[in-house]
Order: sequence, then structure tokens, then C-alpha cells
Amino acid sequence: MDEIVLRGQVLHTEGNPFREGTDALRIDPDGAVVVAAGRIAAVGDGATLVAAHPGAEVIEHRDALICPGFVDAHVHYPQTAIIASWGKRLIDWLNAYTFPEEMRFGDPDYAARMAEAYLDLTAAHGTTTVASYCTVHPESVDALFTAAEARGRRVLAGKTCMDRNAPEDLRDDAQRAYDESKALLGRWHGRDRLSYVITPRFSPTSTRAQLEALGALWAEHPDCLMQTHLSEQTDEVAWVRELFPEARDYLDTYERAGLLGPNGLYGHAIHLEQRERARLAEVDAALVHCPTSNTFIGSGLFDMDGLTAAGLRIGLATDTGGGSSFSMLRTMAAAYEVGQLRGRPLHAAELMWLATAGSAEALRLGDRIGRVAQGYEADLCVLDLASTPALALRAERAHDAWEALFATIMMGDDRAVRETWIGGRRVER
Ligand code: GUN
Ligand code: ZN
Repeated sequence: MDEIVLRGQVLHTEGNPFREGTDALRIDPDGAVVVAAGRIAAVGDGATLVAAHPGAEVIEHRDALICPGFVDAHVHYPQTAIIASWGKRLIDWLNAYTFPEEMRFGDPDYAARMAEAYLDLTAAHGTTTVASYCTVHPESVDALFTAAEARGRRVLAGKTCMDRNAPEDLRDDAQRAYDESKALLGRWHGRDRLSYVITPRFSPTSTRAQLEALGALWAEHPDCLMQTHLSEQTDEVAWVRELFPEARDYLDTYERAGLLGPNGLYGHAIHLEQRERARLAEVDAALVHCPTSNTFIGSGLFDMDGLTAAGLRIGLATDTGGGSSFSMLRTMAAAYEVGQLRGRPLHAAELMWLATAGSAEALRLGDRIGRVAQGYEADLCVLDLASTPALALRAERAHDAWEALFATIMMGDDRAVRETWIGGRRVER
């Protein structure tokens, strides 16, 4: 069997730092990771593992940190080409920039080009798994899964369902949403490293009938994840109140339709009522924090401490292209800044947890990805902690590896990602 030993500093994740304290993540200054058959065969002391695997190819990364590949728990790959569009808040931003771009994805060639570009971009940023919204077109789902399968990428995705308050070319209806989602689920779910995610965009763009149809599909396939948006902006929350006067709150529009459950993934979740927080925790749903999006679109400040204290699983995400970056380093930096605005500076160990094991747990994949640990899939990111002249100087002054890592989180970009490994293979740039 071909074995590869990556030798360098190694990030170990032994628990959840929000529960167990920041010592739950540890950096071994001279460790190694043995990769074989797409998995992590062993993790341990560098010299010991090199000696124990005399036939293996050894790759030296002594000055770098071997981390889990980043897990981006909420993205819209179809918005790749309209990222960083100026000057609008959520509803106007959707109408002005997002919907016109999403209309292009009925063309399978365009969808394939964007899917490939998106997977290349994210790999260059050290991201190995994404959970993506596609567009209303089944072609957009086929394009992403086809490209992901060819690359051996672990990708979760679904057709974005909308049957009102969107341009006609982006609308399906309740029955078509059910039928097309079901056909895509049958084609892709569980194939290779791919998972289908049932995807109503959000309550404003679905009728009750559509939400209920997707709730029925989820009840037939409860092992699937269901992803949607929840309470991102105050204008949106007010609109949902008008559209669903019978609902107790925004979450209730999903709950009534059978769209609240332990495999539910709710993006943003900023402006929550007390009942919503309690109910989300009670059913063990997951929330996804999208900090660059929340500042870029002007949505608000996620309550990380309150929601982790309530026991909720929380993932971290770019929310490309509402978010302003493809980089999980930049996204961790924004989570730090949002924390500062709430009076709570997150530790580098908490930020790394969110971008790796935390997101993996949100996606119910915490037993397979998100950690550098024996038996886990070999999705890795090798981070250079001195990737630019400024970071090299900063690293010289760092008292320990965590201090150097924090500076790279705050100031690093794709130049800090020396290598990305997916399923035991190094991604060629
Ligand atoms: N709410 C509904 N759709 C979207 C979207 O595409 N991006 C963001 N940020 N919020 C949404
Ligand atoms: Zn989104």
C-alpha cells in the first residue's frame, strides 16, 4: 500500500473548546500524519512515525501546521461570479445581483464552468468540504456533483426551491420542487462522497404548499440534511411575519411544514426570538454563522456565546457570494471581529474548531471529517504560518504556535495554504 507521511506541526482536536475549554485543541510542534488509501492511518510523534514507516514517501512541513481541511457549511456556488456586489441589503441584493446570475444556470455548460471554477477556488483556499445551495435548475445540481465526484471531493448540495417572490424563470412549484428534488436525491445521495441536501431557499420565496411538499420529502428521507435561511435581516423577519400571519415566529413557518429537525441546518439565525432559540436547541438543529456575509450585507451580529451555551451545534461558513470571501481564514477573522463587537474575543482554538470539526458536526459528519485523527478521511490543509513578509515578521514575535496561527487567521489568504489534500491526494494547482 502506498503510504505518505506528512511531517510538521499538527493540530489535534480532542473536544469542543466552547464546552471543554481551549485546551481541547492542541498543537504538536513535531508531529506527523500517515496517509494511506484516502484515510489518515496514524497521527503521532514525527520521528517515531517516520521510523515506523520506512517505505513511505516523507513530505517535510516542519515550519507549517497540518490542519483538517476547512469545512464551509453554507455557500451558494452559483453566486461565485457576483461576489462583492455593491451597496444593497438582503432583499434588494437578491433581486439586483443574485437572481439574474442564478438564471444563467439553466445552461449546463455555464453551470459546469462555474462548478469547476468554484471547486478550484475553494481548494486553493484550503477548503475541502462545502454544503452548497444550487439554483432551481436540476442542471446546476448535476454540474456541481459531477465536478465534485471527478475530484473526489466531499460535497453536500441541493436544488434551491422557490415558487414565489422570485423571477418566473427561477420558480418551480410545490410538485416540481418535490419531484425534482426527489429525483436528484435518488441520483446523488450517498454516491461516492456526495450527499443530497433538501433546500427550500427561505420562507419568503416558498408558498406553504411548497414548504409542506419538501417537509414530506424530508420525512421520507430523514437521513438527508435540510438547509435553509433563518432570521438574517430584520426587514426579512418582518416580511415573513406578513406572509405567514398564522405562524408564531419565523422558525414556526418551517416547523409547521415539517422542516424543523435534528438534521436541519439553519443559516444566519441572527434575529431569533426566545422560543426559536429554545426550540432549535430542543430538536438539536444546527446553526451556521456567516460573518463576512452578515457584515457585508449589513445583517447583524450572531450571538455565538448565547447559542453555544444553549447547546446548539454551530458551523462556520463563507455564504459565498453574500459573504465577501472564499477563504475560511478570512471568515474566521470576521467571526473574531463580530465577537469583538459583542465583547467576546474568540480564541484561535475556537475559531479553528468552528472552521473544521464544528462545521463537520453541524453537517453530521463529525465522525469522518474535520479532525486530523486516525481513521478520518485524509482531507487536510497545510498552513504556512509565515506566508507573507508581514506574517513572517509577526511569527518571529509570536510566543507560541497559537499566537502565530492567530495572526495567520487574521491576515492570511490563499498564500498561507501551502497544500490542500483531498481524500489522500494532494490537489495540484
Ligand atoms: N436568503 C435567501 N437567499 C439568500 C442568499 O442567496 N444569500 C443570503 N445571504 N441570504 C439569503
Ligand atoms: Zn445563504
